[in-house]
Amino acid sequence: MEKEKYIAKTLKGLEEPLKEELAEIGIEKCRVTNRAIEFHATKEQLYQANYLCRTAINILKPLFQFKARNEQELYEKVKEFEWEKLFDLDKTFAISHSVRSEIFTHSQYISLKTKDAIVDRFREKFNARPSVDPKQPDVKFNLFIRGEKCSLLLDTSGDALFKRGYRTETNMAPLNEVMAAGLISLSGWDRNSTLIDPMCGSGTICIEAGMMLCNIPAGYYRTSFGFFNMADFDLDLWKKVRNEAKDKIELSKGITIHGSDLAMKSIRISQKNLGNVPDLKRIVRFKGEDALEISAPKKTGTLIVNPPYGERIYKDEVAILYQRLGEHLEEEFSGYTLGILSSNKEALDLIHLNKIRTVDLMNGSIECDYRIYKV
Ligand SMILES: C[S@@+](CC[C@H](N)C(=O)[O-])C[C@H]1O[C@@H](n2cnc3c(N)ncnc32)[C@H](O)[C@@H]1O
Repeated sequence: MEKEKYIAKTLKGLEEPLKEELAEIGIEKCRVTNRAIEFHATKEQLYQANYLCRTAINILKPLFQFKARNEQELYEKVKEFEWEKLFDLDKTFAISHSVRSEIFTHSQYISLKTKDAIVDRFREKFNARPSVDPKQPDVKFNLFIRGEKCSLLLDTSGDALFKRGYRTETNMAPLNEVMAAGLISLSGWDRNSTLIDPMCGSGTICIEAGMMLCNIPAGYYRTSFGFFNMADFDLDLWKKVRNEAKDKIELSKGITIHGSDLAMKSIRISQKNLGNVPDLKRIVRFKGEDALEISAPKKTGTLIVNPPYGERIYKDEVAILYQRLGEHLEEEFSGYTLGILSSNKEALDLIHLNKIRTVDLMNGSIECDYRIYKV
């Protein structure tokens, strides 16, 4: 089977969980870089990676690299590439860019020149051109420029993979689905015991845990992927990948995932999101409760929590909340593994539990500690 090179992007700190997920689909040889993993894969593995990996943001395929010293050179080089072999005229496309260069200072203009080159190539060959759709393109490309080195990459995922398709409502400061899956994975949860989020917000951690527990593919509720729109899309192979993954879904494991929150609005939002994942209705449960009063439903399990960081409420209140949370968890959750994500390191320091690991993560643009404890 022919293999091609791909780059899976992730969030800072989630490289290891992503590496493990790729290994599960047989992709062993990887190069881990900052927020990304480079690997070689067959087309089947590419489809699997897009469908199954919970900690990938998107999967890019490097198309070609070249050097350009001015806009015209860039235009000519881009036009030389056989775009017509990659996608058809009736597909729309868009280009996003990341430009750091002293030569190319107007990144919008560079992006425009690249689009012109692709369009002109089609027009010269077929006397017709594909349309550009910046909002909902069928085919997405990334233009990456550092100095005079230019790379073009195809986004095989299309919409970012954290857009699972189930979260239609969010509350204040919701976690990215990829981050939620990463927190669960980093906690070492065995997928065979209960998992609790006592400050569940819009329910992301619980729904991700439920999907993991039942082996529901990360992309199960999505209706499309970028690779659907490629000229070499193999529908039979995609159906095989999808059906094989569906066969592994196991809904009756007898384990419950518990989400709770002090705010009833959060519970309503969580329940609404859960409604979009009908398979989990009997597996994930949400209820309104103060985290400082919850009791452990089983003797062992995992508790993951993303408490308020203190930007919205007073610092002292947050400090007290963290301290009491630590005390309560120590009393009630002996035997549990805990994972606490926060940017408020001083408040985290007030939790005096047996810490086994800290992972540096970025929650959006906020630097966070993810501290894992064994009670
Ligand atoms: C940062 S948000 C959690 C976001 C969530 N991880 C998500 O993905 O949507 C913090 C949540 O803690 C809840 N909260 C604050 N104090 C609480 C308490 N004492 N008990 C339970 N929930 C609390 C808030 O209502 C809020 O929903």
